[in-house]
Amino acid sequence: MSKTNLIENKKKILIIDFGSQVTKLIARRIRELHVYCEIINIKKFNNLKNFKNIKGIILSGGPSTVTNEGFPKISKKIFSLNIPILGICYGLQLIAKLFGGKIKSNIKKREFGKAILIKKSNSILTNNFYINNKSDVWMSHQDGVVKIPKYFKVIASTKSVKFTSIEHKTKKIYGIQFHPEVTHTSRGKEILKNFAIKICKLKKNWKVPSEKNRIIKNLRLKLKDGKVICALSGGVDSSVVALLIHKAIKKNLICLMVDTGLLRKGEFKESYRIFKKKYKLNVKVINAKKLFYKRLKNISDPEKKRKIIGKSFIEVFDKEAKKIKNIRYLAQGTLYPDVIESTSATGSNTSKIKSHHNVGGLPKKMKLKLVEPLRDFFKDEVRKLGKSIGLTKKILNKHPFPGPGLAIRIIGKISENKIKILQEADDIFIKALIERNIYDNIWQAYAALLPVKTVGVMGDTRTFDYICLIRAVTSEDGMTAANYNFSNEFLNDISNKIINRVYGINRVVYDITSKPPSTIELE
Ligand code: XMP
Repeated sequence: MSKTNLIENKKKILIIDFGSQVTKLIARRIRELHVYCEIINIKKFNNLKNFKNIKGIILSGGPSTVTNEGFPKISKKIFSLNIPILGICYGLQLIAKLFGGKIKSNIKKREFGKAILIKKSNSILTNNFYINNKSDVWMSHQDGVVKIPKYFKVIASTKSVKFTSIEHKTKKIYGIQFHPEVTHTSRGKEILKNFAIKICKLKKNWKVPSEKNRIIKNLRLKLKDGKVICALSGGVDSSVVALLIHKAIKKNLICLMVDTGLLRKGEFKESYRIFKKKYKLNVKVINAKKLFYKRLKNISDPEKKRKIIGKSFIEVFDKEAKKIKNIRYLAQGTLYPDVIESTSATGSNTSKIKSHHNVGGLPKKMKLKLVEPLRDFFKDEVRKLGKSIGLTKKILNKHPFPGPGLAIRIIGKISENKIKILQEADDIFIKALIERNIYDNIWQAYAALLPVKTVGVMGDTRTFDYICLIRAVTSEDGMTAANYNFSNEFLNDISNKIINRVYGINRVVYDITSKPPSTIELE
């Protein structure tokens, strides 16, 4: 579980990250095949000594060019280890270069977006990939292989680029210019499946729930009788972390729940009830509403709000934690994407480590060792893990909720009254989604309060009240999002309910923008 070490006793595909935007997607697709894989940066890979359980290597794409001096590379020795290798985009160009081929930065023949791949010869890699010897693929390259290295053959081309897919004549080394990991390559999964199962001979036996025992055992070994403290927010990640650690060390886990007063209506009480009564966790509640409201008074800048909330959270947590004796560890819900994002492609560690929403900064301040049992998992895998340890559906299927909470859903200045108004409207909206059975089809939905008042008329009386904005999006990972298409009938119903039941709102608008160009949250 340590940051630098691969899990050594697990057979895997190793993905070497050359800095592509979509490296994580390669890992997702391989894991979807129930094959275990890990991502490693080139620096760490080049220092690797033990290749025992590495059954396949994928070289990712990346922004570098092998036509420049000092391009990122792997040692040629790797090719004689008898481990199957698949190079994607930059990975293909690197293989070609290292074997003596020629690569050109050819502006005229660059390909971005959809292309048609045409079969040139049979290959296990492209089994079941073509329809009538053709397949839609997604390209994103400026450089291209212009001379194929000795001992390689072409297995597929596009109209404009001949050496789009190549294979070594005797070794299991493959290179493809297109990206099989993105959904725009319609049958891309077949390529990864052929590589993992047929070429690397890996079995489809990796399943998230079966990881639970390994995690709990490792936690026991690592923590021994050390006390662990954990900030429990009631979101999926921190809940799964707390339950896993609780299963490993029971009462030595102390959970702190800080009530910032910025959660959805009734959410804090409900989470407390679940953790205390249902799961019998050692939970301590801190009511810090007043402090948060006081510090946020008159603050309208989104970044200032975030900073105040983060800093106040750390302060409150730190103060309470100090009252508990002999704590050695701090548990955090860091996920695999955070780990990958936290080092640069070359391993130079230049990009800042992404702090997990509002507990970032705590470990340094508290001089505690970190425990991060979810750092090998993607978000949807965490949900599967949660399900396997009996986490209630209520938490398991909960939409993501931002660390700064309702503070970034009340645009501009915050007041206790505005929070109450928003909590009511949001509650009506979310309950309606649940009642209509559409909550689980949506990635994230919420109500927000806009800082403008408009004129309305209710029962012959003029009103001058706030605008409530409702937003609902579908998404795979929160990086991009599309607005959810409600029926007019549903929108009318929601608008009526909110205006009839919530004093302070006289207009409801529905946000129809996607991300990009908008973001999911408004601030
Ligand atoms: P955006 O608004 O950037 O949001 O499209 C993408 C996802 O991140 C969540 N989000 C946050 N989560 N602290 C968090 O813990 C934050 O400051 C924060 N801002 C946005 C957002 O809810 C969505 O799921």
